[in-house]
Amino acid sequence: MTSNDAVHFSLLSEEFHADPPAMFAAMRERCPVHHANEPAPHFSLTREADVAGSLRDDATWSSKFGPGHAYGEPGSGVLVSSDPPAHTAERLAITRNFKPSAIEAMEGDIRTLVYGLVEGFKDRGRGELIADLGMPVPLTVMCWMLGTPAEDIEKFRNWVLPMAEAVAYVGGRRANDTVINAYKSYGDYFGAHIRDRMAAVEAGDDVPDDLLTRLLTVQRDGTRLTFAQVLGFCQFLLVAGSATTTLLIGNLAKRLMEFPEQFELVRNDRSLIPNAIEESLRFDAPVHGLFRTNNFPVTLYGVDIPVDSKVLMMFGSANRDPEAWDRPDEFDITRDLGALKRHAAFGVGIHYCLGAPLSRMEGALALEAILDHLPHLRPDGPPSRVKAPILKGFETLPVRWD
Ligand code: HEM
Repeated sequence: MTSNDAVHFSLLSEEFHADPPAMFAAMRERCPVHHANEPAPHFSLTREADVAGSLRDDATWSSKFGPGHAYGEPGSGVLVSSDPPAHTAERLAITRNFKPSAIEAMEGDIRTLVYGLVEGFKDRGRGELIADLGMPVPLTVMCWMLGTPAEDIEKFRNWVLPMAEAVAYVGGRRANDTVINAYKSYGDYFGAHIRDRMAAVEAGDDVPDDLLTRLLTVQRDGTRLTFAQVLGFCQFLLVAGSATTTLLIGNLAKRLMEFPEQFELVRNDRSLIPNAIEESLRFDAPVHGLFRTNNFPVTLYGVDIPVDSKVLMMFGSANRDPEAWDRPDEFDITRDLGALKRHAAFGVGIHYCLGAPLSRMEGALALEAILDHLPHLRPDGPPSRVKAPILKGFETLPVRWD
């Protein structure tokens, strides 16, 4: 059962991306601790009990080398790349900007943004849902939170996916020029932006009360985050806070078009919008999985996982595990909302996504606007998949409506 030869899995293979649930099922059944050498040696866990159980055991399964495939420098990253007690303090420090009242305070502006976009293109009769709606909504909200002009999403949209691609690079697999240039452009732009804000804070000038100011002023044991930590955290947020929600909006629209009876259900009953969002996240987790490293040697199903191995926790597979879900491969927006919310798409345990309420709201408003203005959305040619190996969803999604 644990033989690695039983299943050939590679994050980079076309076979995996053509049908992730089929690969996940094979791994769960035949090889629940899988070892792969591509793009560099790592293990993968795919059963819900193992993924959720490990993520809850943060004393064993560390984030100190970062959630990507490469080994980061311990202590250089924040939050998603740190363990308690530093993680606890960092999370507490910025939770204020993500608490329900802060997110609710943005609802009116996000609604205006979403409806403004949809009303701007609805008379066209056809469009590309990612570029027209899925991408600009979360990216504009990130601009609000990080204090950059909203027009600059035109720059950021070209950096986000190449930067997300880097999560699976390691060792011998050198980033391509698009990825390298995206990082460089990001560093130039945000380096200057953060320095300007730092100077304004230090001069005692009036500064916006946003997430960036919070990151620059928050104290931890009497010290502030370094410039490099803030630069790294903003980069993480730009990708984690936008690309994932873009994928959610695209994945949800795609499934509603694919399963018209489900589309009909939510058209007739708007109270199903939250269920549709959660079922989309369960069925098509926008992030297939993220990495941990083990602080101690671990043996699971007879497989030895040496200390400090990179181990990929497959959220997408946990969400399709028949041991955890009834009819896991059926897209059904009438599932119980409380039960649905236990999916692993936002992670599990202490690193559970801070942006979950925000992305749920963005997704719900996007769906509401689609139901109001594009209720008979249908495909208009083949979509293209995102290239980042760790992500699931579409880079383009051509659609029409009448
Ligand atoms: C559908 C949309 C989203 C998905 C699928 C998603 C997914 C995730 C996942 C899987 C994690 C866990 C990381 C880990 O365990 O290593 C996470 C953490 C995080 N996410 Fe999200 N995310 C989404 C939207 C957002 C948004 C909109 C923001 C912010 C504006 C955000 C900010 C964060 C932060 C700050 C963390 C780190 C929490 C910690 O380490 O304590 N995410 N997200």
